[in-house]
Amino acid sequence: MNPPTADHGYGRPSVRPWVSAPAMYHSGTPRDRHPAVARWHVHLCGLVTAIHETSGPEVFLMSSVIVVGTQWGDEGKGKVVDLLSESADFIVRFQGGNNAGHTLVVGNKKFILHLVPSGILHRSKTCCIGNGVVLDPGVLLGEIEKLRSNQVQVDPNNLVISGQAHVIMTYHREVDNARELRKGKGKIGTTGRGIGPCYEDKASRAGIRLHELVNPKLFAEKLKVNLEEKNFYLEKFLGAKPLDYNQIADEYLAYGEQLRPYVGNVSHLLEKARHQGKNILFEGAQGTHLDIDHGTYPFVTSSNAVAGGACCGAGVGPTHIDTVLGICKAYTTRVGGGPFPTELEDEIGKHLQQKGAEFGSTTGRPRRCGWLDMVVLRNAARLNGLNSLAITKLDVLTGLEEIRIATSYVHEASAMETFPLECLTLEKCDPSYESFSGWSEDISSARDFSDLPVKTQRYLRAIEELAEVPLSIISVGPGRNQTILLRNPFEI
Ligand code: GDP
Ligand code: IMO
Ligand code: MG
Repeated sequence: MNPPTADHGYGRPSVRPWVSAPAMYHSGTPRDRHPAVARWHVHLCGLVTAIHETSGPEVFLMSSVIVVGTQWGDEGKGKVVDLLSESADFIVRFQGGNNAGHTLVVGNKKFILHLVPSGILHRSKTCCIGNGVVLDPGVLLGEIEKLRSNQVQVDPNNLVISGQAHVIMTYHREVDNARELRKGKGKIGTTGRGIGPCYEDKASRAGIRLHELVNPKLFAEKLKVNLEEKNFYLEKFLGAKPLDYNQIADEYLAYGEQLRPYVGNVSHLLEKARHQGKNILFEGAQGTHLDIDHGTYPFVTSSNAVAGGACCGAGVGPTHIDTVLGICKAYTTRVGGGPFPTELEDEIGKHLQQKGAEFGSTTGRPRRCGWLDMVVLRNAARLNGLNSLAITKLDVLTGLEEIRIATSYVHEASAMETFPLECLTLEKCDPSYESFSGWSEDISSARDFSDLPVKTQRYLRAIEELAEVPLSIISVGPGRNQTILLRNPFEI
């Protein structure tokens, strides 16, 4: 196989990647003037006196960390959130719903969470579901039961749900599936969980929120009005069967009874927590390129999966966020339809799918696989204001002779370094690759950067330098302990 075709200096003697300050931290750049970045840079250089100049002599501890997916979801957010929950007091889901599937592997146990935040396995932590989430009550109650049957505590003492969260109704799921069926080949490939139709009702102000679900009179009235319209649409337009009012009312009123004790004011709770100096971890679902505004529209989900979504979706002001951690798989995957420039429809793609067990945690569908894409990652760095990166599933690349990274695209014979705004343009982009030598050593028990083979270190350093975002976490296996922690985002 070919040796690396370009030299970015990745072959330099081993230094922890985050110590080699990337270009954006060089003095004079706007980000360097951000107090948090300045403090971090100063910390790395050991210039303690400069800390006093920028922020005074006090010890600075980060308290609010947002975790987001940088690609098309399934980057390993669940594993990283579970890991970081050790340092957090509150863990908050802020968008999406049970289209998410976040996998946690602890010892020989595997948990797949769809709605309950991934901090739930840690005792004495409070998990919150924010107003930006769309909540399927039956799924949530089933998940709570399953966790309890595995001796995990889940009750109103450690799970609080915003009364403003919108409820996924039976008709949302029916509309989602009937629409996809009608679209045939042109379908989005949704998870069929009713996510889009629920967010539609939220935007059109017809939605039912959790505080209404737990109020039987209000709920019954709203359901009546909504179902009349939904049944018309289901029957007359989508050719589906109409739904029965009494059946839905009975089912959902029972859910409301069970969920009433969990309802709270998440925004207020988090403000109080912040005043008490608690650490808050915001758990993104989906990924930047599935974001309703910034993703590959229309092949996206229906919420804002970028970091900004945490503020709206949890009721927290942007000045109260300290750092944003982007989760990035060491290669790329995508479930459902939509453009994917670095997709590999060959033996290497199959290898990644099998070795990486790339089958959806929610629907079980095979995930499409391809090389790591820097145009995608740089787009995520900008859209989320990433402070650092967690690279996951690095172990899956072991055994490949050559590994590639797309660094730019070619579109109609011109080079393109930025992510196109339009899906139609992206479909016509061909990636330009840089090539790296692979490694054959088993890296799954590496716990320190220096435990990794030099070729693996070069690959990581290339990611860091091409993305211009420092690495803080490297994941070398699904287990909680299969992690190289370069820097805890809570302890900058
Ligand atoms: P999420 O939706 O971003 O939380 O990701 P998923 O849980 O849907 O998919 C990630 C999958 O990769 C899960 O099965 C994880 O257990 C697994 N995983 C996470 N990190 C690693 C890793 O470093 N190596 C390997 N081999 N598997 C990992
Ligand atoms: P996590 O949080 C991967 C994809 C679906 C489909 C599109 C729209 O586990 O990373 P939707 O049901 O949301 O209307 O589907 O978005 N999708 C995901 N892909 N991971 C996810 O979540 C996803 N959630 C939605 O496959 O292409
Ligand atoms: Mg997932």
